[in-house]
Amino acid sequence: MVAASLPARVPTPRHYLMCAPRYFAVEYAINPWMDPSLPVDTDRALAQWTALRDAYLRFGHEVDEVPPQRGLPDMVFAANSATVIDGRVLGARFRAPERAAEAEHFRRWFVENGYREVTMPTKINEAEGDFAWTGRVLLAGSGFRTDPDAHAEAQEALGVPVVSLRLTDPRYYHLDTALFVLAEATDSAPAQVVYYPQAFSAGSRRVLERMFPEAVLATEADAASFGCNGVSDGHNVVLPLEATGLADRLAERGYEPLLLDISELRKAGGGPKCCTLEIRK
Ligand code: ARG
Repeated sequence: MVAASLPARVPTPRHYLMCAPRYFAVEYAINPWMDPSLPVDTDRALAQWTALRDAYLRFGHEVDEVPPQRGLPDMVFAANSATVIDGRVLGARFRAPERAAEAEHFRRWFVENGYREVTMPTKINEAEGDFAWTGRVLLAGSGFRTDPDAHAEAQEALGVPVVSLRLTDPRYYHLDTALFVLAEATDSAPAQVVYYPQAFSAGSRRVLERMFPEAVLATEADAASFGCNGVSDGHNVVLPLEATGLADRLAERGYEPLLLDISELRKAGGGPKCCTLEIRK
């Protein structure tokens, strides 16, 4: 492919909410990546997270931070705590009791920072862990965490069409471990996504094929290195260090991958996207 035929991948400014892993640990196992018997280096996690935050700042994005709380070792995974579209905030309700208290810290942050439409779900809802905004529709995962009834609740609360997808592989327990949006839909172009087909039920796979015939399909190796947990601003794409194959394929399509070491956070089953809650005004 010649460079001149590549579409321009134009970044759009983003606003992210993050939470430093000051109290990060793996003290319980609520997904197959977590093994509490293995050592975790909190300082290293903090350094990896800081590199991620600093990359966003270098790209020119705005980053706000929620103060981390002792006793909530997974709070670094901010993506699980709200879905924000058009300034409307739908908070979270966690499946695991160990994480339940995180939701209120984030709710309070939104209220204290002037967001007036803040709704809390009545159904289990792990927010952007299981919801991905394409610019036109909200893709919604279920199967392991978010209750399928939370999808309808999100549609009502946020006023956007929701498309439900079913996850079937416990290693890819949140939608954001199996799919991410490279570029939102515009008036002239459909949304661009990356996904790992094998993480979805047969029916959901067919839905994804229909909706995104030009998707970048992740391989088993891409998915196993948490490559589907990328964060894109439409041009820059942050990926885990090991996702080199996916990075090459995205570069061929005109994106600019940035590979970051998130090995410490992956011990909890997290990656770049899990640490990043997007605030869409
Ligand atoms: N240990 C956390 C959990 O199992 C990891 C969450 C990762 N976040 C995400 N958006 N996938 O809930």
